[in-house]
Amino acid sequence: MYTLAIESSCDETAVAIVRDGREALCNLIASQIDVHKAFGGVVPEIASRMHLEAINPLLALAFKETGLSMDDIDLISVTRGPGLVGALLVGVSAAKALAYVTGKPIVGVNHMEGHICANYLAFPELEPPFITLVASGGHTYLCVVSDYETYEVVGSTRDDAAGESFDKVSRTLGFGYPGGPAIQKAAEHGDSEAIIFPRAMIDEDHYDFSFSGLKTAVINYVHHQEQIGEGYDRNDVAAAFQAAVIDVLTAKTARLIGRTGIHTFCLSGGVASNEPLRRSLRAMCERRAVRFFVPPAILCTDNAAMIGSAGYYHYCRRGASGLDFTCDPDLGL
Ligand code: KG4
Ligand code: ZN
Repeated sequence: MYTLAIESSCDETAVAIVRDGREALCNLIASQIDVHKAFGGVVPEIASRMHLEAINPLLALAFKETGLSMDDIDLISVTRGPGLVGALLVGVSAAKALAYVTGKPIVGVNHMEGHICANYLAFPELEPPFITLVASGGHTYLCVVSDYETYEVVGSTRDDAAGESFDKVSRTLGFGYPGGPAIQKAAEHGDSEAIIFPRAMIDEDHYDFSFSGLKTAVINYVHHQEQIGEGYDRNDVAAAFQAAVIDVLTAKTARLIGRTGIHTFCLSGGVASNEPLRRSLRAMCERRAVRFFVPPAILCTDNAAMIGSAGYYHYCRRGASGLDFTCDPDLGL
């Protein structure tokens, strides 16, 4: 079964063709990052306009690359939320137009569910049940995936998402957008113990996160150092901040693994491309004899192949969505 997938929830226009929910035959991404960089973050109106320019050429390229045509496609899958509403509308409108003219089934899928399903593409042998931490620019979830399409969110962020905190701290330090890769790089040259930033709620007996206080602690530290004329080492701040995020994510995940007795763990979302985070979670899993999975970085950040996988399982379990589904910028998992 061939799924044509479209993703346009933020600043990447992406099209993929996925076979049986597990194999990406092509995975095309037109990134807008260079344009948004100039503004220090994603400008929604610009994102929508750029999606509009990119979507049709990208669809044409997907067919050219795979040698397939619309006749070969069995299912159309598109991100319906969460994300920027104007950006989502471009992908959903394109997908609906294709479904309408061809009569093919369409499914509107959850972007965060897509991030989790990136693991199915990277690891064909992976099956639920597993525990997953999905950390992106807008959301941070700890979930128990008991079956395909069955997600129990047991913890989430109470304020800023993990990726959002990387982006905000990066801006404070003058590293720009996107913050994650910049902070990771700077941290390689810094001392993570030079400053000790707070690890919010790390010992509390629940699975929720809070990263807003950590962000404020970094900003206060930077301002204080500037006010007393002492300055600071940006690399040290980046390393100390990153260590605090990793400690909390690792501790909460370890707590959940310990409680559930599920011996498979999958990491996903844009923040999952962070190498030190991958190492920390891998080591924690190894100590507990838990199988650790994380997709390659290209499947962690936004892409359409993951939407193709999520759409396939959605369709197999729940059928098509019909043409009247709407975008939902706040769609929960
Ligand atoms: O999943 P994603 O590509 O888009 C959303 O759905 O939000 O995640 C983007 C987020 C951004 O906040 C970005 O700074 C973060 O993922 N990110 C990283 C790294 N690469 C991307 N965070 C930490 N380390 C990285 N290497
Ligand atoms: Zn994402």
